[in-house]
Amino acid sequence: MKKIILTGSNGMLGKALKKKLSNSFELKSFSKNELDITDFAAVEKILAEMKPDFVVNAAAFTKVDAAETERVLAEKVNADAVGNLAQICKKIGTKLIHFSTDYVFNGKSETGFSEDAEPNPINFYGETKLAGEQKIKKSGCDFAIIRTSWLFGEGENFVRTMLRLARDQTEIKVVSDQVGSPTFTKDLAEAVEKILIENQNGIFHLTNSGKTSWADFARKIFEIAKLPTKVIDIPTAEFPTPAKRPQNSVLLNSKLSKLRRWEEGLEEYLFKKGK
Ligand SMILES: NC(=O)c1ccc[n+]([C@@H]2O[C@H](COP(=O)([O-])OP(=O)(O)OC[C@H]3O[C@@H](n4cnc5c(N)ncnc54)[C@H](OP(=O)(O)O)[C@@H]3O)[C@@H](O)[C@H]2O)c1
Repeated sequence: MKKIILTGSNGMLGKALKKKLSNSFELKSFSKNELDITDFAAVEKILAEMKPDFVVNAAAFTKVDAAETERVLAEKVNADAVGNLAQICKKIGTKLIHFSTDYVFNGKSETGFSEDAEPNPINFYGETKLAGEQKIKKSGCDFAIIRTSWLFGEGENFVRTMLRLARDQTEIKVVSDQVGSPTFTKDLAEAVEKILIENQNGIFHLTNSGKTSWADFARKIFEIAKLPTKVIDIPTAEFPTPAKRPQNSVLLNSKLSKLRRWEEGLEEYLFKKGK
């Protein structure tokens, strides 16, 4: 059985990967408390000792707005630590599986962004994630970089936020001029397992199929959850945030099998939560 080290195993995607990858791999997973990826010496020690076939890095600084002010930490986690992981992987002959984001793109597209579209982030989080990608490529290690978007799963996410707000609001204002593809972490984890088994290399775009706006995403959540909450469309200008968001962040997947539609993933997710 091939060996995997999973970092960031207590995050939303980390949890889904931990469940999925333990079926077909010898998996050793590390939460942030168990392995801080910015502790270069600790990372090097563990990787050198275990010499895994794959490092799957689900650790990241993911607070998009906080990244605007917590710049040093965001860069350290999303860029420097990723570069360090990549260099060690190169040294010991391990392949690095890493996750990146739709936010490496500027959102100015009618159709969406293909794997080879030119990144041009419009917020600092996106800049740090792009820097992480570049450091991996520069290291010369074997890698798969998987860009994904609008995740929901076990952890804090948009679906949970909407359900929480619906508890004491009958109407919720939601931004309707940003479009993307919501993605269920369970579906993404299944696709990652396939990439590992097939030993695929390169940059991949993996999201659930279909696209929507945040407002229509919220409507679908309330429809499936059978809640009467009304969604009122608002433009981004009416919901200012510290970090700018791309308007169209749809990732086009031209390399791998398509995942099922996001609505199907959402239905399973909400059903499992018993909502
Ligand atoms: N969430 C999305 O909508 C989305 C969209 C596109 C791409 N992505 C990418 O998908 C990947 C997974 O995201 P996610 O949604 O699962 O994020 P998440 O829930 O925030 O999980 C990230 C995990 O990494 C941990 N972490 C932070 N700093 C660390 C460090 N120095 N060392 C080790 N672990 C550290 C976090 O711990 P703490 O929480 O304790 O800090 C958390 O458990 C990331 O690469 C992200 O950029 C996410």
